[in-house]
Amino acid sequence: MNNCRVSGKPLNLINDFGDQPLGNGFIENKDINKEYFYKMRTGFCEVSKMFQLIEQPEPEQMFHDNYAFFSSTSNYMKEHFKDFHSFVSNSGYLSENPFVVEIGCNDGILIKNFKDNNTSHLGIEPSSNVARIAKELGVNILEKFFDVECSNYVRKEYGSADAILAANVICHIPNILELAKGVKNLLKPSGVMIFEEPYLGDVIKKTSYDQIYDEHVFLFSAISVQYLFNKVGMELIDLIPQKTHGGSMRYVLAHKNYYEIKSSVNEIINNEIEQGLDKLETFQKFNQNVIDSKKQLLKLLEELKLNGKKVVGYAATSKSTTILNYCGISTNLIEHIYDTTPLKIGKLTPGTHIPLRDHRYFKDDMPEYAVLFAWNHADEIIEKEQSFLNNGGKWIFFVPSVKIL
Ligand code: SAH
Ligand code: TMP
Repeated sequence: MNNCRVSGKPLNLINDFGDQPLGNGFIENKDINKEYFYKMRTGFCEVSKMFQLIEQPEPEQMFHDNYAFFSSTSNYMKEHFKDFHSFVSNSGYLSENPFVVEIGCNDGILIKNFKDNNTSHLGIEPSSNVARIAKELGVNILEKFFDVECSNYVRKEYGSADAILAANVICHIPNILELAKGVKNLLKPSGVMIFEEPYLGDVIKKTSYDQIYDEHVFLFSAISVQYLFNKVGMELIDLIPQKTHGGSMRYVLAHKNYYEIKSSVNEIINNEIEQGLDKLETFQKFNQNVIDSKKQLLKLLEELKLNGKKVVGYAATSKSTTILNYCGISTNLIEHIYDTTPLKIGKLTPGTHIPLRDHRYFKDDMPEYAVLFAWNHADEIIEKEQSFLNNGGKWIFFVPSVKIL
């Protein structure tokens, strides 16, 4: 696909990250000779202003009954999604007895709050292992990929929605025009779509290129989201920046001309124009920053290796797959990575095959340096692992710049 998924116009090539495995493709030693790779490159469309992957693996390859990302591993995110629930409930956009749908509800981290408040709800989640956890919490689940056909089915079986919610999933959906049509189709006339995703403005500002991996087929700006939903007769009515995932944006959309547009929409779109999120040059500069960031991280890790330091990684995020494969970091520079996810422990990192260890051994292993791959959860992790710093351990960061804490 060399054309924009939204406008159909040719894409300008921005980054080339070479061959990459699946971001969440944690693998057993016996399977490494059949590992899947694809060419990870990004493009920018000067018409839709959409920043996107040029090629992406098929959704069924990424989301299945063995999906490795469990939303509820972070306590901070659990709190965040309670606040998201309050935001929606108090938004003034819902009817008295609302029906709320969530796309990509994973283990139920957000939608369970609606269930707990006896709100009529439905979580749509194709990865059956995480969906099972949500079901066990009593959440109503439909195990499907959301698209127009799914929206027709939900409308027929459950009725139209007051609100369609989503977090960190709309940017995963390659057929995004179908998604927008499905949303338009399922919403009541007074209905709203509220979703939040990692924000392109932060990625460009912080050179957090690890947000680019197979699942993230898009990184959105308000300008590109506006262009997309205008195509189906919807418009942005509010925008609220979020701290999660290293900087996200919450988008509120409604049918055109139904609600008043909040001043945040113009303010943020003007900021984006000032930042150049609508200009090709901004992305070309970003690519140069990515190349520089790679050089600096490698320089640091190679120096530590030469000096005989013990360096490990902390948190095997899907984001880390991009960093490790693009920089060519394997056990030559990082001995192993600690993580909390049972499904990852004992496996190897995708492509670079660094062993994953249970985080409970981190303290005992006494590494001298740890690269914090989950930099978006830095506060939570640094607090939890205070003894590491107390014993002279040092954290290595690479966003917004390569540095030692
Ligand atoms: N909303 C959660 C989960 C994000 S991970 C959070 O913010 O933590 C993305 C989830 O979306 C995965 O569980 C994946 O299985 C699901 N997903 C991917 N494509 C989807 C689609 N087309 N429709 C519904 N869910 C989808
Ligand atoms: P994310 O950055 O995509 O949210 O992925 C988080 C990863 O980090 C996941 O593999 C779990 C891991 N993790 C830890 O190992 N310890 C922690 O304290 C937290 C919050 C996450």
